[in-house]
Amino acid sequence: NEGSLWGARFASGPAPEMAILSKSTHFDWRLAQYDIAGSRAHAIALHAANYLSDDELRGMHSALDELSARVADGRFQAAESDEDVHGALERGLIEIAGAELGGRLRAGRSRNDQIATLIRLWMRDESEHIVRGLHGMIAALIEQAKAHPNAPMPGRTHLQHAQPVLLSHDLLAHAWPLVRDLERLRDWRVRASESPYGGGALAGSSLGLDPRLVAGELGLGAPSHNSIDATSARDVTAEFAYVLTQIGIDLSRLAEEVIFWVTREAGIAKLHDAFSTGSSIMPQKKNPDIPELTRGKAGRLIGNLTGLLATLKALPLAYNRDLQEDKEPVFDSVDQLRMVLPAMAGMVATLEFDTDRMRDLAPQGFSLATDVAEWLVRQGVPFRDAHEVSGELVQFCEERGLELHEPSDDDYRSISEHLLPAVRDVLSVDGAIASRRGVGGTAPDAVAEQLRALEERLASL
Ligand code: ARG
Repeated sequence: NEGSLWGARFASGPAPEMAILSKSTHFDWRLAQYDIAGSRAHAIALHAANYLSDDELRGMHSALDELSARVADGRFQAAESDEDVHGALERGLIEIAGAELGGRLRAGRSRNDQIATLIRLWMRDESEHIVRGLHGMIAALIEQAKAHPNAPMPGRTHLQHAQPVLLSHDLLAHAWPLVRDLERLRDWRVRASESPYGGGALAGSSLGLDPRLVAGELGLGAPSHNSIDATSARDVTAEFAYVLTQIGIDLSRLAEEVIFWVTREAGIAKLHDAFSTGSSIMPQKKNPDIPELTRGKAGRLIGNLTGLLATLKALPLAYNRDLQEDKEPVFDSVDQLRMVLPAMAGMVATLEFDTDRMRDLAPQGFSLATDVAEWLVRQGVPFRDAHEVSGELVQFCEERGLELHEPSDDDYRSISEHLLPAVRDVLSVDGAIASRRGVGGTAPDAVAEQLRALEERLASL
């Protein structure tokens, strides 16, 4: 079994059925440059502990640089006989440096501590693309909120008209969860910066290598305190997968709202031609494929997370080959979000709102009934009674096809002695919105304050 990392004690090479199941180069190749970076750092630790001379360290580093260049331009690729990226790269190193020098690098490390480290390096780098994507997405929401500071829309609960709110308030309601996702990534990064390198297969190394050297070279924080935990825990991977999934879920809620907004029935917003698609048979169609794919991919992200968690459940310590299954789900979740985030940001930035229609719809469905009740409370009526009176007014109007401000003064009095003509003062969309001026409310000043707070939180992320 010439060339493999572990052939010596085997009388035969792996059966083809075995090899095909075992192979991971078709997906772990994307860790190749991280593997080489780990090797550069590991060579420094070997040199510091006198296993490599100054010359040998130089030779090792220049061979690794050459290998890195060959991987980058495709001159070096995984071969049919390579089991994983680690084995392939050792083969490549030996091709360049020879077996005498190249064969020294593996001392004191295992693929187990390597892979646990490399996935962290990869996730940390990828998380920066996700962070940028989130910033772009939030910026698009903020831009639209700023472009429509005072436009009312029907606010909904249960999808039913509830109370008028500002469009800017609704848009920012989608921005806050994404801000929290940024904060989650920031918090996660602390844990993702622990360095498992040096844990070896599971028990550490007898060679007296200093794991802090490797961690420092790789830009990671302190080495893991427990080599068993270092090589076999994947909670950091699962946590990353969760945050990615949460981002997908947060985007899917915005997506769902946009899909509704652009229906004929709602008619509240229009998609830009560049961010929508047509139908192969119906010439008039303009479809919201971006939010639909976003909604669909949220399901895929949940599947990736769930699959990963199921892989980890009840795995005995320490490394088990099951752990090879941790990579494809996070690779895929990252790939999906790196497409979804910019597409959604572009779609939001170019949405065209029909603010006249939103203003028309805002008071419909008796969405100012709460304002009647709260007006009565301000007149000293207990809320329980006020709710009753307002409800009777709704029923009165519904039966006669009237809006809440339209019954006569006498009709008002017949419903309740407390229902005075002055109640009409609060029966306007702008008045209802302006009155909700407390922290977090939908009044224009409160939303302006909210926007300041959001931008301040964002500035540190
Ligand atoms: N390819 C493995 C993984 O992705 C790392 C190699 C560890 N293999 C082993 N037989 N100990 O987890």
